Amino acid sequence: MTSPTPTTGVSRVPVRPDLASVEPYGAPQLDVSVRLNTNETAEPPPPGFLEEVGRRIQGLELNRYPDRPHQRLREALAGRLQITAEYVWAANGSNEILQQLLQAYGGPDRLALYVRPGYSMYPELCRTSLTPTAQVDLDDAFELSADVAAAAVAQHDPDIVMVPSPNNPVGTPVAHDALRALHDGSRALIVVDEAYIEFADDHVSALPLLAELPRLVIVRTMSKAFRLAGLRLGYLVGPSWVVEDVQKVRLPYHLDAIKQVAALVAIEQEAAFLEHRERLAAERDRVAAALRGHDTLQVFPSAANFVLVRSAVPDLFGRLLEHGVLVRDFSDKPRLAGCVRVTIGTGAENDAFLAALDEVLASA
Ligand SMILES: Cc1ncc(COP(=O)(O)O)c(C=O)c1O
Repeated sequence: MTSPTPTTGVSRVPVRPDLASVEPYGAPQLDVSVRLNTNETAEPPPPGFLEEVGRRIQGLELNRYPDRPHQRLREALAGRLQITAEYVWAANGSNEILQQLLQAYGGPDRLALYVRPGYSMYPELCRTSLTPTAQVDLDDAFELSADVAAAAVAQHDPDIVMVPSPNNPVGTPVAHDALRALHDGSRALIVVDEAYIEFADDHVSALPLLAELPRLVIVRTMSKAFRLAGLRLGYLVGPSWVVEDVQKVRLPYHLDAIKQVAALVAIEQEAAFLEHRERLAAERDRVAAALRGHDTLQVFPSAANFVLVRSAVPDLFGRLLEHGVLVRDFSDKPRLAGCVRVTIGTGAENDAFLAALDEVLASA
């Protein structure tokens, strides 16, 4: 095949200097038998979901642009929380919600503060939105105390604060008193990223704090417990002025009509979508207990659908991959030396991971 563009004598247009050495972000997508590296739910959507979506999309006028403010979807998302649509906004995954928040409230003259360790997209999104950053470190148990939270906002005076709860990759939730300290000690927008909240105990969510903390925003996703990572649907719940402001940066018609219908059907079938949670929690506890059976491993408590584990075995990630098991490698990240994060999969996948790990540890 010939190249569609000239290949010789052409000088490349230089990319933005701050992007010149950047690698595109993303966990490896490898064709291996056991993929436990991106915190998806291993079980597919419930039976009947795709059929119902197929039936409903027959009525769509795809020659027309979709409902730009996705009113019915926002009403459905809001209805689950006994609130109204003006407090809810959806986008293509919670990453896009976070991006829109940074586009609206970040920028070159602003400052974003995020917890460390934390979700690895925060620095990426800050960079592309040209937002300077500061970090606040979790303690050795990977928790954030109210005192540390208060000191961090006092020191940095951020415009936007991003806190994953439960945290990815470490698995710990953030206490409400730390969120109050971040909020009350600052003038910032406090963004609590609850991507894994459906796996945690009910009291963990910051939703009840919305009535108390006027600059609090909660970000959620259908990619994890809702088993719809392929759909790309995330949303925020927060003050109506935030919903107004993000509309100043969203692309027109950013949510396609098919996605809006599919997400609506998923919300209608919420009970069936989420019925796997207890199974998942039991599997997580089983995997964590099996890992704790190895006294050379350090296993961190998790309120999410993954477990972070530390080992002294060099290149544990690569050794597991040799056994066809893909986990997420954090071993070169600050404070996570020797750590990998394993997503809880099906019982069979978890068994395959534990068996591979046994072999790796036995031969180490
Ligand atoms: C803490 C956290 N926030 C947000 C996301 C983004 O999820 P999505 O864009 O699929 O909604 C992830 C995905 O791994 C995550 O771990």
